[in-house]
Amino acid sequence: MPIRVLHTIAELRAELKGQPAVGFVPTMGNLHQGHLDLVKIVRPRASAVVASIFVNRLQFGPNEDFDRYPRTMEADVRALDSVGCDVVFAPDERELYPLAQGYKLHPPAELADILEGQFRPGFFVGVATVVLKLFNIVQPHAAAFGQKDYQQLMVIRHMVAQMALPIEIIPGPTTRADDGLALSSRNGYLGPDERAEAPQLYALLRRMAERVKAEGLGAVPLIEADAAASLAARGWKPDYLTIRRRADLKPAASPHEPLVALAAAKLGSTRLIDNLEI
Ligand code: PAF
Repeated sequence: MPIRVLHTIAELRAELKGQPAVGFVPTMGNLHQGHLDLVKIVRPRASAVVASIFVNRLQFGPNEDFDRYPRTMEADVRALDSVGCDVVFAPDERELYPLAQGYKLHPPAELADILEGQFRPGFFVGVATVVLKLFNIVQPHAAAFGQKDYQQLMVIRHMVAQMALPIEIIPGPTTRADDGLALSSRNGYLGPDERAEAPQLYALLRRMAERVKAEGLGAVPLIEADAAASLAARGWKPDYLTIRRRADLKPAASPHEPLVALAAAKLGSTRLIDNLEI
């Protein structure tokens, strides 16, 4: 069956009626191998796989890149078709937000106002609201989210648990270029020199991970400060480089808690994020 591209909620519901196991990959388009890997992860568990493409204005700040976010629908549909996606759901704003979205989901501040939420106020309100709405529309049994957006995955997992949504959330490992750079739609903003520099973010996360293993939790403040200083010395503007416990991204209290190193920094005008479980 050729892939179906549907633009309305009514068409999507009609298409999915009777499907015993819907797998879902929400995206904002401009797809790269990381997104396609998420489709491959849900494919074996689903009778039908849906990917959504919707650049969600609600999760962008006023000075962020909503207007210039790349829209590449035809290439995206071809790529999704090549990995066995059945349905692309690509609503326009009038379909998804026919009225200004007055009902919004506010994730708890302790999860959503730290790290990404501190530097992108309102981001997780926008993400949680659109993901909940998409879940209600698609009614998936399983949905895949990339681990590159580590905090987003955590917020969605908490939302699904607290709201008792009958959806299995499947994490997808970060897909990387050969030089280690995590694949991201925003990598397309990088000029050639910036692209050559960009893998340093992951290199630094690896160094942070090695140091915390060697020096212990007590050294975390120094490791974080050194990492920020060395990135700044290379011309980046770091937002955060930090080592947290995986469960809730708070500072770790004991050496037995599983850890993750997380980073966000601007290279020129492009903001990159990445993380590494330790
Ligand atoms: O990760 C993304 O691309 C977006 O935040 C998502 C989950 C599709 C919601 O708009």
